[in-house]
Amino acid sequence: MSKIYASMLSIGAYSPEKRLTNADLEKMVDTTDEWIVKRTGIKERRVAADDQAASDLGAIAARQAIERANLAIGDIDLIIAATLSGDFLFMPSTAAVIAGKLGALNIPAFDALAACSGFIYALATAKAYVESGMASNALIVGAEASSRFMDYSDRSVCVLFGDGAGAAVIGATDDPSKAIADVKISSDGAQWDNLYIDGGSKNPIREGKPHKPFMRMKGNETFKLAVRALSNDVIEILARNNLNASQIAHFVPHQANLRIIKAVGEAIGLREDQVVLTIDRYGNTSAASIPMAINDLYEAKRLKTGDLMLLDAFGGGLTWGSALVRFGGETPR
Ligand code: ACO
Repeated sequence: MSKIYASMLSIGAYSPEKRLTNADLEKMVDTTDEWIVKRTGIKERRVAADDQAASDLGAIAARQAIERANLAIGDIDLIIAATLSGDFLFMPSTAAVIAGKLGALNIPAFDALAACSGFIYALATAKAYVESGMASNALIVGAEASSRFMDYSDRSVCVLFGDGAGAAVIGATDDPSKAIADVKISSDGAQWDNLYIDGGSKNPIREGKPHKPFMRMKGNETFKLAVRALSNDVIEILARNNLNASQIAHFVPHQANLRIIKAVGEAIGLREDQVVLTIDRYGNTSAASIPMAINDLYEAKRLKTGDLMLLDAFGGGLTWGSALVRFGGETPR
């Protein structure tokens, strides 16, 4: 029997219509377009409509990914959602809510909680399920309505994040030229306090108690940790797969900060044309940023069957990860 590989069969994404520009933020907090562009690369981000929760964005991206994989909802036998802004505080999972919206019933659905690294954690899990034969077609979704957890008086965080969703179908193939070659995920929970959203059992939200379940981040510390961890990570994943940077068709990093992306690209000697950037238009869409960026490549007709992508992400936990993914879907016409 030939070996089963997990393959990214398709990609889909959705970004809400409402734009929040740097000029808009200048009216809300003490900041400038110049500071935001220079320090982060972000020009605008999207914000979910009042009636859209993370699952609504995720379900739209998911339907597109399933259709592009030429599959029906009934073919999906696992759903993993990655989010830090799920519909509910802990239960039900956003994956279960998305499954309900899609009508994908009686299948396992759970969330991969790894903040901005969530999509890579979901990818690692789906790969293992598919390669072990426990799933045939896994849907992985990164979906964020993180604007709901933004303190729009905290200029150090609120200028960074945007809403959106991306999804991919991970299925089985016997063709190694379409395989997810490797996924590497890590964490350092001793440094959780660099980046968190309060309101859980450590400091629960209670009636009568003033509480702000907003995202808090030590930006500068996180920045340095991200550059170091990601540079080492991409060097290691390339080395253990006997690859060098020139063999990467597209570097699709988590879009947290243009300076982080450039530093990691330089650490492995990538050319600018290998680096996929969407941060100027969407900001940091957390677990959705990588699939949204892959979707951008796909819709620009720059993603071909078999193209080797290097993905990387860093986020709350702390968590980080990287992946080498050969696109297994059809080249868009
Ligand atoms: N506008 C103007 N000035 C600002 C703003 C703002 N929006 N935000 C901060 N500043 C000021 C600070 O107050 C500080 O002023 P001071 O020197 O007078 O004290 C100055 O700018 C520099 O602040 P730093 O925090 O040192 O700025 P830095 O260059 O580090 O950029 C940033 C901040 C953009 C947040 C950066 O540190 C970063 O991108 N961090 C990493 C983010 C990340 O990767 N997070 C992980 C993924 S996200 C997730 O998992 C949810």
